Amino acid sequence: MRVRKAVIPAAGLGTRLLPATKAQPKEMLPVVDKPALHYVVEEAVESGIEDILIITGRGKRAIVDYFDAYPELEEHLERSGKYDVLEEIRKITEMANIFYVRQKAPRGLGDAILYAKRFVDDEPFAVLLGDDIILSNPPCTKTLIELHEEFGGNVIAVEEVEVEDVSRYGIVKPEEIREGVYRVLDIVEKPRVDEAPSNLATMGRYILTPKIFDYLKKIGPGYGGEIQLTDALRVSLRDTTLHAYRLRGRRYDIGDKFGYIIANIELALMRDELRDKLLEYLRSIK
Ligand code: G1P
Repeated sequence: MRVRKAVIPAAGLGTRLLPATKAQPKEMLPVVDKPALHYVVEEAVESGIEDILIITGRGKRAIVDYFDAYPELEEHLERSGKYDVLEEIRKITEMANIFYVRQKAPRGLGDAILYAKRFVDDEPFAVLLGDDIILSNPPCTKTLIELHEEFGGNVIAVEEVEVEDVSRYGIVKPEEIREGVYRVLDIVEKPRVDEAPSNLATMGRYILTPKIFDYLKKIGPGYGGEIQLTDALRVSLRDTTLHAYRLRGRRYDIGDKFGYIIANIELALMRDELRDKLLEYLRSIK
């Protein structure tokens, strides 16, 4: 079955970026001139996704406003002849069919995804974490969808991380089946460095079969006392294959201070109007 639905969990508290995220969602922090979430929705759309469910939570209303129409602003831009910006503003509301549901309490990624059950129904679906921007050509989610079409089952994106960082991620035990594609034999959420099965880490992009909901309901709290998607994937290995794709591209964790700053610099360097000026400035810093 074709993957045409995506779920974007964006309910996390953003504690690593406090106080900036006290009164605004981390997914709405600007990266150059667009909120981080805009890039994530763009990736979904460019991967062929038609319907998107964003899982929000308390204090995340700015997300809903962002993808909604804003007639007063549009009129103002029209009157003042700012047609370029007007077109850009209108495009945001037309990107995809976006639906919302609020997670009632921050009980983890797995719990957030359970809110998507009725939206997803019985179709395979994509999950894109709202605080990971991934730039690649073709888009990462598109490649994962193709691998799902080839192998069936669940598919995730992975990237090599420094060994000392494995305890920040879901880590896989891989068996390479062709260059950059693995069959996953085991997966562990945030293992200790000495217990990690490899240094290949899950990177916020998944294609899941609807069977995952059964497992999410059955597993109890895991790492940090939260319902972990990684734990449900682990249990699903009993009857569903899991393949991993080694990301070719750049990934920015904008929920992290350093990741957020790097994202702004590198994405600004990709803009013609900013590149030369920024490079000159960066070179001038002592
Ligand atoms: C989540 C997942 C983890 C994954 C990571 C990628 O963790 O639980 O398996 O590796 O995203 O960004 P979080 O960053 O929410 O702690």
